[in-house]
Amino acid sequence: MSEFVKIIYNGNEYRLPVIVGSEGEKAIDISGLRQETGFITLDPGYANTGSCTSSITFMDGEQGILRYRGIPVEQLAEHATFKETVYLLINGKLPKRDELTQFSVLLNDHSLVHEDMRDFYENFPRSSHPMGILSSMVNALRSFYPELQDLEEEINMTVTRLLSKIRTLAAMSYKISRGHRVVYPRPDLAYCANFLNMMFDSPVRPYEIDADVVNALRVFWILHADHEQNCSTSAVRMVGSARVTLYAAISAGIAALWGPLHGGANQAVIEMLSEIHESGNMGRAIERAKDKKDPFRLMGFGHRVYKTYDPRAKIMKKMADKLLKKLNISDPLLDVAKELEEIALKDQYFIDHNLYPNVDFYSGIVLRAIGIPTNMFTVLFAIGRIPGWIAQWRESIDDPNWKLCRPRQIYTGPQETKFIPIDQR
Ligand code: CMC
Repeated sequence: MSEFVKIIYNGNEYRLPVIVGSEGEKAIDISGLRQETGFITLDPGYANTGSCTSSITFMDGEQGILRYRGIPVEQLAEHATFKETVYLLINGKLPKRDELTQFSVLLNDHSLVHEDMRDFYENFPRSSHPMGILSSMVNALRSFYPELQDLEEEINMTVTRLLSKIRTLAAMSYKISRGHRVVYPRPDLAYCANFLNMMFDSPVRPYEIDADVVNALRVFWILHADHEQNCSTSAVRMVGSARVTLYAAISAGIAALWGPLHGGANQAVIEMLSEIHESGNMGRAIERAKDKKDPFRLMGFGHRVYKTYDPRAKIMKKMADKLLKKLNISDPLLDVAKELEEIALKDQYFIDHNLYPNVDFYSGIVLRAIGIPTNMFTVLFAIGRIPGWIAQWRESIDDPNWKLCRPRQIYTGPQETKFIPIDQR
């Protein structure tokens, strides 16, 4: 039998349906609230608001669970390729062998970018942040590859183009920012290895592909592939709801991801760890993070949903240890991070606030070991998140209940006021 929640106000009773998800989580359906009662709800930051129903990703922040289409992220990190994970998120199932081969062929065929796009890169100031460049370039794809959104075939083409070209665009931005020759994608290399080769190969020093480095990037990208209705994904869905092109919606997602409270935290963590390492004053960072008058926060700590250890951070921490050992690298920032974590997890403030390391706390150390420069960290996050954004965008445009996103507000400004001519003010 359907359940309801009752609202009683001024003697009137309203019944609101209860919606139950496949993992038992509950919501009150308020879609008829304003029409029936005249009320809206107020929820700054949407911490209690579900914007949609979705069958893509399940998270349980209390138990530290993350699953893509039902499959635990730990299993995907252990066994899947990034390409399989992309296919799973976008198509809702793991690919069969022939489907994966066909997908690989398409990704290869679309991996080049229009040569004229190189001119854009040349005109960004040298000091531009790669996230700003990536967001602009993805939006610009529309001008070079116009899309038709109504045919299934055309949508698939646009999706594959974006998945493939994003790597090439990101690697090009790095090469051009350094004044180096652009390296083109190679048909014989798989998705992760191809990206690393485009980043690091040079005519005077051919890039040697190391299986452990490729594996670290594979795991990093799988762990970042989707995270349900986070800030950037909500931006993609919201901007997409105006029926803009996929490119414009993803460009908005990249811009949102750049923020230091979101994906930009991976860069901010390394900057924070370097500062602690240089100053040798870890206690000060902890004290500042606890001081309510100080805007400083421990970057890479805390999460809106996880109130326990982020399952992605557990995998990333192990990966940092394994990779550094394999590459014989001694990174003092890993020691700083581990010590900081140990102190914070015993500190009453962090215990009371349920603050644990999130995915960004150790991911920067892995990226540094791979050789990725700090200002490219969030770009790497963006490439990983592309499949999630696309899957969420597709789900929204296929959802018959998906409407233009247009929240309301409670107005707190002045009531009607007369206009005063300028000489009487
Ligand atoms: N350091 C110190 N205090 C913190 C931190 C932190 N990193 N995070 C939250 N708090 C405190 C905050 O001051 C507040 O305290 P009080 O209730 O006493 O005023 C309380 O915890 C709740 O904070 P909030 O900002 O209301 O919580 P939120 O759910 O809006 O914040 C967050 C989530 C990720 C924005 C926040 O934890 C944060 O700023 N962390 C640092 C940035 C970071 O690592 N971001 C990456 C997130 S994971 C990657 C991704 O998926 O985007």
